[in-house]
Amino acid sequence: MDYVVAIDQGTTSTRAMVFDRAGSIVAMDQREHRQIFPRAGWVEHDPLEVWENTRAVVGGALGKANLDAKRIMAVGITNQRETTVVWDRVTGRPVHHAIVWQDTRTQAICDELAGDVGPERFKEQTGLPLATYFAGPKIRWVLDHVDGARARAEHGELLAGTMDTWILWNLTGGPDGGVHVTDVTNASRTLLMDLRTLAWDEAIAAEMRVPLSMLPEVRSSSETYGTCQPGILLDVPVAGILGDQQAATFGQACLEPGSAKNTYGTGNFMLLNTGEEIVPSQHGLLTTVCYRLGEAAPVYALEGSIAVTGSLVQWLRDNLGLIRDAAEVEALAASVEDNGGAYFVPAFSGLFAPHWRPDARGALVGLTRFVNKGHIARAALEATAFQTREVLDAMNADSGVPLTELRVDGGMVVNDTLMQFQADLLGVDVVRPRVAETTALGAAYAAGLAVGYWSSPGEVTENWGEDRRWSPSMDPAERERLYRNWKKAVQRTLDWVD
Ligand code: G3P
Repeated sequence: MDYVVAIDQGTTSTRAMVFDRAGSIVAMDQREHRQIFPRAGWVEHDPLEVWENTRAVVGGALGKANLDAKRIMAVGITNQRETTVVWDRVTGRPVHHAIVWQDTRTQAICDELAGDVGPERFKEQTGLPLATYFAGPKIRWVLDHVDGARARAEHGELLAGTMDTWILWNLTGGPDGGVHVTDVTNASRTLLMDLRTLAWDEAIAAEMRVPLSMLPEVRSSSETYGTCQPGILLDVPVAGILGDQQAATFGQACLEPGSAKNTYGTGNFMLLNTGEEIVPSQHGLLTTVCYRLGEAAPVYALEGSIAVTGSLVQWLRDNLGLIRDAAEVEALAASVEDNGGAYFVPAFSGLFAPHWRPDARGALVGLTRFVNKGHIARAALEATAFQTREVLDAMNADSGVPLTELRVDGGMVVNDTLMQFQADLLGVDVVRPRVAETTALGAAYAAGLAVGYWSSPGEVTENWGEDRRWSPSMDPAERERLYRNWKKAVQRTLDWVD
């Protein structure tokens, strides 16, 4: 038997998974990396630690399955998107920690670029508002703040990339001939790529003061970019790259226009496949590339990105000590009947979709003496479902065709209380697939399709199967009452001025 490996370089950890032809997981290994918070609003990762972890988990997963590299037909990469690294092409050493997607330090750069036109200045070309979330301004920040970096970049000594590019470059030899490439989905998160041409927009790059020479080549999501070098998966072709949310969309077999998935991770990300059409959003969503398989026409998506969902549960654990591990939150939330009137808006990185308000700050409102830690846990979980409702409303308004069901995946979908509440609040069925690891699976499919391990995307659809479905059962009047209160709570976070 032959297999495909997926490397999933996520926000909190890096995983390697071995898949077989049926799309089933044969082995998996995972390592967390440090979250570095140098000051309020800043979030960094150490790219060398992440690369070390990548090597370790690939070795770990192969070891568990008792496989050597000869049995691996291809490797696919999927990654936390927007997180940006700048490194020296000769030494392979980063000039600064990676700046993570949640980091808000580039606000002044975004404001300057927005000028009198406003945050939508580059929206027509890129599908994105000018916001701290995206990668391009993070590169600019490094060039502006690291001693000598701009001059070195202009002399061609530095390379830039998102985590896919960093991992690929290292896998394929690093300073000894590493391939400097990204795929269209990751490139579509930089504010530097034109969605229509799928090439870097030279005028925007010049405005942002990012030299084109340090940017990777933009390629499709499914083709052979290079082969792995000694030390890790020797001679195995790296043949797929998809940003993690696009990978999950692919792994969920949302291959037809109108199909959508929602991933519950550190944040939540809902993507609606819009086919070959670039649909501009009028309601606070992003237009992004969903995937491009080799030479085939690119497929686009509308996306609702929510910065904080699962990471609010981590915050309850790490910053408040309310629970000892994340799984305890469900039992704590279930110890009470309802939220007791409490609403928790976790605007820790401002608010992303559909508000795009970097200045928003978190709020816990509706408190009385009655409220206890069970209600707070419940309000924290409900925040995920309320934010998802905001995004679904925006999606229905933008696409004009209401969604009839939502495929879900990610760490929080094991939580029955949350999934039932989600279905209640959305008024549509929520469906969990049999293989919940859709992100890694999507990257494995992209790589496997490129080398003929799978013959067509139809196999992705055939392999998808339903595990569990939650249907709405809440009284619609109660649903709207709760949602009205949520909106009032959100307004409090938008009114907050530091
Ligand atoms: O855009 C950010 C997203 O790609 C991060 O995903 O799953 O690592 O939180 P995750």
